[in-house]
Amino acid sequence: MKKKYSTIHPKVKGFMHGGDYNPDQWVGYPDIIEEDYRLMKLAKCNTFSINIFGWSAIEPEEGTYTFEWLDKIINGLAEQGSHVILATPSGARPAWLSQKYPEVLRVEKNRQRNLHGLRHNHCFTSPVYREKTQQFNRILAERYKDHPALIMWHVSNEYSGECHCDLCQAAFREWLKEKYHNNLDELNHAWWTGFWSHTFSNWEQIESPAPHGENQVHGHNLDWKRFVTEQTIDFYKNEIVPLREITPTIPVTTNFMGSYPEMGPFLGLNYDKFAKEVDVVTWDSYPAWHGDYQETSELAADVGFVHDMYRSLKDGQPFLILECTPSLVNWHKVNKTKRPGMHLLSSMQSIAHGADSILYFQWRKGRGASEKFHGAVVDHVGHEHNRVFREVAELGEVLENLQEVVGASVEAEVAIIYDWENQWAIDDAQGLKIENKEYINTCQAQYQAFWKKGIPVDVISMDKDLSKYKLVIAPMLYMVRPGVAERIETFVSNGGTFVSTYWSGIVDEHDLCFLGGFPGPLKNVLGIWAEEIDTLYDKEFNEVKFKEESSLNLSQTYKARDYCEVVHPKGANVLAEFQHDYYQGMPALTVNRYGKGEAYYIASRNDAQFHDDFYGEMAERLDIKSVFSEEIPKGVSVQRRANEHHEYTFVMNFNDHEQTVKLTKDHVYVDMVSQREIKSTVVLKPYGVVVLKKC
Ligand code: GLA
Ligand code: ZN
Repeated sequence: MKKKYSTIHPKVKGFMHGGDYNPDQWVGYPDIIEEDYRLMKLAKCNTFSINIFGWSAIEPEEGTYTFEWLDKIINGLAEQGSHVILATPSGARPAWLSQKYPEVLRVEKNRQRNLHGLRHNHCFTSPVYREKTQQFNRILAERYKDHPALIMWHVSNEYSGECHCDLCQAAFREWLKEKYHNNLDELNHAWWTGFWSHTFSNWEQIESPAPHGENQVHGHNLDWKRFVTEQTIDFYKNEIVPLREITPTIPVTTNFMGSYPEMGPFLGLNYDKFAKEVDVVTWDSYPAWHGDYQETSELAADVGFVHDMYRSLKDGQPFLILECTPSLVNWHKVNKTKRPGMHLLSSMQSIAHGADSILYFQWRKGRGASEKFHGAVVDHVGHEHNRVFREVAELGEVLENLQEVVGASVEAEVAIIYDWENQWAIDDAQGLKIENKEYINTCQAQYQAFWKKGIPVDVISMDKDLSKYKLVIAPMLYMVRPGVAERIETFVSNGGTFVSTYWSGIVDEHDLCFLGGFPGPLKNVLGIWAEEIDTLYDKEFNEVKFKEESSLNLSQTYKARDYCEVVHPKGANVLAEFQHDYYQGMPALTVNRYGKGEAYYIASRNDAQFHDDFYGEMAERLDIKSVFSEEIPKGVSVQRRANEHHEYTFVMNFNDHEQTVKLTKDHVYVDMVSQREIKSTVVLKPYGVVVLKKC
């Protein structure tokens, strides 16, 4: 349903634009701070995140607080009309704290305790660190609870990593005891510890996985990762106790991450679980635009996938870009600047997929240490007369023009299942192609077909409600947790269309193989038995050809690489067959009628043409509409947000050359970016973008 979500705080009326501001690095430079306020106005920035790394500037010694500088900054920002996102500074701590309480220092997998330094390296179990952070947050919340500029809490920074100290080991054991009902036999069975004589005879023998210890017991690895997610969330919950108590109307979030250069979500934490605990999903988006290993438009589709995933974490509620760079980063392999226009384009893309902010890391480049060459709105030169600043200010103006888009929803009839636990289990499996089984790429390969056609997609975990979709695609659904197959069956029998692929229905929630034939609990709905899977060398391929009498309007031959499964129909109809090898003539694509719906099975990893044609056909049969009725040229993405009153169509050119796009003849549009009227065609500049609204 088209709807307008409210902004994160009643004071926020439009898009938030601004980002991480680190005045704590500039306390000795009052002129710079004064100049910042002038530049912020010029850059049309209205929101700043502060205090992310401010702990030692506020509490230079234990119990001595020097808030005066922060008071000045918050007041200064408020005076020039900015909103403030206030961070709790647990992402990094003062040296005195590590020195006095070494238990706060993280212990690595190899069981070595880190020295003080870096950041994001605390023990998430340590009672001392929990107490110190909560105490600090209480003082912070008390001090600024009534500040008119405060609109949101930014809790810690990019939670990540694991700690293997004795406190964490003990907590892990407690967690296991609870999970396995204090029954070691249950754990031994779930972890299949009969293998290599790994059976445990008391709880104290259990430790976290280690490179020089246990690391081949998949149920163990999986439970450890689950524990790390839960313990991190628990740490976060401990941090926010005073915030909820003292500032109940201020929303709370923490910034999620992506993974690079392979453009996916961060894999260290299950964000599907974490999302339930934040008021708004936010993420830090740093794609390596203009890389030499992927076309820009392909990367754009992958980025779109991650945006859609983060929007779907809270069932369509708009998300925030809490960090991105106005130009370049300093940690990609090659740190290329965004070409002219790319900053506006990539920002519009985030918004098109559901973002309600464009916030940067960082406002001003620091003078020293490792991030001094990371992109920023204000460069070392210190003035506004450079390309990056101009492009930021230009974006600020566009965001003002687009204000009414804030809160508008994205409506999808298609969902692709991507699931963190499934990813962990696939990555851990020893077999197939050892190094990279390409789970995320496989999800993104299906997604690309919809992206090219302008068909919106939600990206959801296997636990989400399926009933609102016409088409649900579950690529490589290797793990099937309890209840999932039943929900898929209900979805299909009620008339839904389900598509799955090779290597689905293989293991349960403990990473134990299903007995009695794959795809395990999905057998009934898919109507097949997958007997074996063949892995191909990189240069090898098979071919998939549609049968003449197939019910789909497809007749071509497509290439299959990496994986081909030997499948027997058990009630399903065969639509396409392999052309070579000992499984020549065997099913490569099947469909099973189940209740009022259908379930398809793709038995091999096929080329992009296959996905384009197959999902094109699906869209037609299921009447799944593109948001754009005219042809979408190559490398152009069309996405839509809508509220009860209007539709906003984002037409984005990810090519480094011009593209002409035809529009529906009888309409006149206004391009909200340039504020010009557009009829019949639009010529998009290289990396050009228009946002169309019907006049
Ligand atoms: C992360 C961190 C920031 C900064 C940026 C640099 O997103 O949260 O503090 O280090 O990376 O890209
Ligand atoms: Zn620890």
